[in-house]
Amino acid sequence: ERLCVTCSAPTNIATIKYWGKASAELNTPINSSVSVTLHQDDLKAITTVAASRSFSKDRLWLNGKEEDVESNKRLTTVIKLVRALAGDKVDAKTGEVLVYKADWPQYHVHIASRNTFPTAAGLASSAAGYACLTFALAQLFAACETYDGELTAIARQGSGSACRSLYGGFVRWQKGERADAADSIAVQVADEAHWPELRALIFVASAAKKGTSSTSGMGTSVATSELLRHRAAALVEPRLAAIEAAYLARDFAGFGRATMVDSNQFHATCLDTYPPIFYMNDVSRALVQAVHAFNAHHGAIRAAYTFDAGPNAVVYTTASDVAQLLAVMSRAFPVPRGAPACSDAALAAEAA
Ligand code: DP6
Repeated sequence: ERLCVTCSAPTNIATIKYWGKASAELNTPINSSVSVTLHQDDLKAITTVAASRSFSKDRLWLNGKEEDVESNKRLTTVIKLVRALAGDKVDAKTGEVLVYKADWPQYHVHIASRNTFPTAAGLASSAAGYACLTFALAQLFAACETYDGELTAIARQGSGSACRSLYGGFVRWQKGERADAADSIAVQVADEAHWPELRALIFVASAAKKGTSSTSGMGTSVATSELLRHRAAALVEPRLAAIEAAYLARDFAGFGRATMVDSNQFHATCLDTYPPIFYMNDVSRALVQAVHAFNAHHGAIRAAYTFDAGPNAVVYTTASDVAQLLAVMSRAFPVPRGAPACSDAALAAEAA
């Protein structure tokens, strides 16, 4: 017999960034971070996990291509940790026990995961992917948390930013103090119903694959950037308190300013890294100026950009400003005649 579960999970975009690991082994951060979970249908991971006694080993297919499980330390860690929480699997309709807790060691899993991200967006898909995998495995194994947030601590070990995708709304990943990192978990600050007017627009500045992965980039930054050390020690905590208060008060100006200042500072730490890392390009910088011009025109912060480890922007704004902001942006960044729309380009790239 064979048990099967399918889940989907959204991505999230940090407004106060995670950059730098305190422990590579436990995947803990040098500072807490906070993000907005995006609920667009076209930006999520979808994962199916199946368990059977007839499977001879754990296997994984990512976007249709089989990947080696054994050599993937993050993946094997996540599978092992969720399995350790396994309970009796009960049929929801009949109440019949399908697998007793003690029998799980006889089962292996097959995992198929894909993401619906347009390739051209180049947005980190590991956050949605590991959040989805952790949750799907937890459902499959009827896992029970032994403390609040334990599943987020497991997702964290797949990819740091993934822990924040287990909740909707505005979510903090607290860095934690304990040596075993059990308190390095995600906590929901406000749920997805709290600020229904908030919008996130994605601007693709380059469809090229990013040069430096987050994991290796932050490793070099921790080793070489004094600015990053100062940021983590003194600057992030007060900014987190300020942005959480602004989000709770639906104060867009306060939220937007902290978001932009933190994105700029994150990219400054990349420049302060030796050798320096450049994620933003000329188009990214032009977009920064266009957003500031938009805000100056209104005499208030009504749009706010943020950039992750790549050149593409996420711009937060509110529903009533979306049309005007898009009109301004399409004048500032005309799409060349004949150029495919983003999703067409993505499909073409995938097909090729
Ligand atoms: C710039 O979560 O991808 O997006 O823990 O090594 O997998 P690993 O890193 P990852 O880094 C994300 C970095 C960031 C900022 C953020 O999401 O907070």
